[in-house]
Amino acid sequence: MAQGNIKRKPLVVGNWKMNTTADEAIELARSITTDIGAIIETDIVICPPFVWLSPIASVITNTSIKLGAQNLHWEDKGAYTGEISARMLKDVGCEYVIIGHSERRQYFGETDQSVNQKLKKAIDAELTPIVCLGESLQDREANRTNALITNQFNNDFEGFTDFEKVIIAYEPIWAIGTGKTATAEQAQEVHGLLRELLRQKTDGYNEVRILYGGSVKPKNAADLIAQPDINGFLVGGASLKAKDFKAIIKAVSGKD
Ligand code: PGA
Repeated sequence: MAQGNIKRKPLVVGNWKMNTTADEAIELARSITTDIGAIIETDIVICPPFVWLSPIASVITNTSIKLGAQNLHWEDKGAYTGEISARMLKDVGCEYVIIGHSERRQYFGETDQSVNQKLKKAIDAELTPIVCLGESLQDREANRTNALITNQFNNDFEGFTDFEKVIIAYEPIWAIGTGKTATAEQAQEVHGLLRELLRQKTDGYNEVRILYGGSVKPKNAADLIAQPDINGFLVGGASLKAKDFKAIIKAVSGKD
């Protein structure tokens, strides 16, 4: 798809999941910030566990790296033991929040409906949502990928119009943490479908950034980012190694 003058600054997001002690988290954030100051062609976000958001916010002050959270609750406050509100995330310095990661869908019962509620809350709170969707191996093998992605997209974004404020992450479940990456062609096919689904919703469809996630590593980043509708990455395992995360950022930088 021709990109013309469209500005789609690439974005690389590190999802640390439930990893790092306090010391490890600070060390990792420090190592990521080292030498990264010069990279301005790419937006960079790190999403540490909730408990380290505040110390990490201090480490990345005055750098181009932004802070994100891995989840939020859709209510403002109240009796929701163990949950974190959008306002709390804003107060601690978050600008982004991951919503509907497949691990949350799989292990914590998140549904398209809760994703939709969280998405709307994030927008209200002026957090940028990174909405994740993707198919399982069974779905792919049964040729249900396109139908499933279309369904998730329509349900996750039901009644939603603020597409210019959203990031979408395509993460095939079979590629997450498995070392199996989707080929660049497989990923582009779904990214192309998502672009088409966006086109049906908004004139600004070409400006929405669609990230790929699932075993992104320094060695496969260049191939994937060369695809026309891949605008960055959501990185799990490799974001826990500063050297690999920075290598991925470098591979992405320069794409418009
Ligand atoms: P992975 O995780 O890079 O370890 O496969 C990606 C993700 O879950 O966001």
